[in-house]
Amino acid sequence: MRIVRSWLFVPADSERKLIKGRANCADALILDLEDAVADDRQHIARELCADFLKHNPDRSRQQLWIRINPLDHHFSLSDLTSVLASKPDGIVLPKVYSAKEINRLADYLSALETREDIETGSTRILSIATETAASLLTFHSYLEDLSDRLVAMTWGGEDLAASLGAHSNKNPDTGDYDYPYMHARTMCLATARAVNAQPVGSVVVNFRNLDELEKECTSDLRSGWLGKMAIHPDQCETINSTFTPSVEDIEHARKVVAIFEQNPGLGTVGLDGVMLDMPHLKQARNLLELAEQISRFNK
Ligand code: COA
Ligand code: MG
Repeated sequence: MRIVRSWLFVPADSERKLIKGRANCADALILDLEDAVADDRQHIARELCADFLKHNPDRSRQQLWIRINPLDHHFSLSDLTSVLASKPDGIVLPKVYSAKEINRLADYLSALETREDIETGSTRILSIATETAASLLTFHSYLEDLSDRLVAMTWGGEDLAASLGAHSNKNPDTGDYDYPYMHARTMCLATARAVNAQPVGSVVVNFRNLDELEKECTSDLRSGWLGKMAIHPDQCETINSTFTPSVEDIEHARKVVAIFEQNPGLGTVGLDGVMLDMPHLKQARNLLELAEQISRFNK
């Protein structure tokens, strides 16, 4: 799948925010039918959602995903049946316990795609993989039987704190996440990479503080994440620019690829006094592929 740098949550019951989101530079919108919508507005949100998807069939610049309610919530099936005919690019599944639920959702999607005459397998899945206590104990399930609809994974520390019975998820002295959340973050990254899904960084809830966002984006990028969730339109420009390879990065990657091409048969070479071997070549190729994809789809 194409890399999606910025994923903007938009409460699906707000027409104003849907319009604002569509005009924003986010690579994907996540129309939220879950936590951002009050129970008595669920019908309005589903209708607006289906209508919005129908009226926005061109997804070449910005994909349109839906966050449904958790599979064990009685809203989830009605969420799915009311929006699938309008062809969302994918479904965001919250409060996951294990990969079993990804596979269960995949089966529901196959049935609905068949009913709606939509290409089987075309609706993809993003798992919010760390919102329950059980989820911290079941990451291995993703390495067993897994639907290839799963193309991205993210983590969250807010619902996880509630599930763990925590009073807070941050250390009050440093403002950093406590160890259970750093563990969740690491396990999500490792699992996403292991199953070839895009690892997507978690939200920064303090949406006025763009410095904090930039710092977190830079740290996420360094660790291996390839994009970030957003809750406010102002966050997406910072996310896009951090997750777009810079001119210097591209130049360096080109040099790395070139030096290996000029020295066929060599597994290790030196460039500017630094040893390079196969992992560096692989990283350089990945970066060039990403840069090429971004220049094609997302300016
Ligand atoms: N998507 C689209 N538009 C949004 C938006 C979002 N997530 N958040 C804010 N906007 C719009 C506002 O409607 C406002 O538009 P207007 O100028 O036409 O009135 C503009 O951007 C500026 O908004 P601002 O006043 O800065 O914020 P706010 O106080 O209206 O909203 C939040 C703050 C947190 C309620 C809002 O950002 C939001 O709803 N975020 C998403 C929450 C969510 O989906 N949570 C679930 C996932 S964790
Ligand atoms: Mg939540």
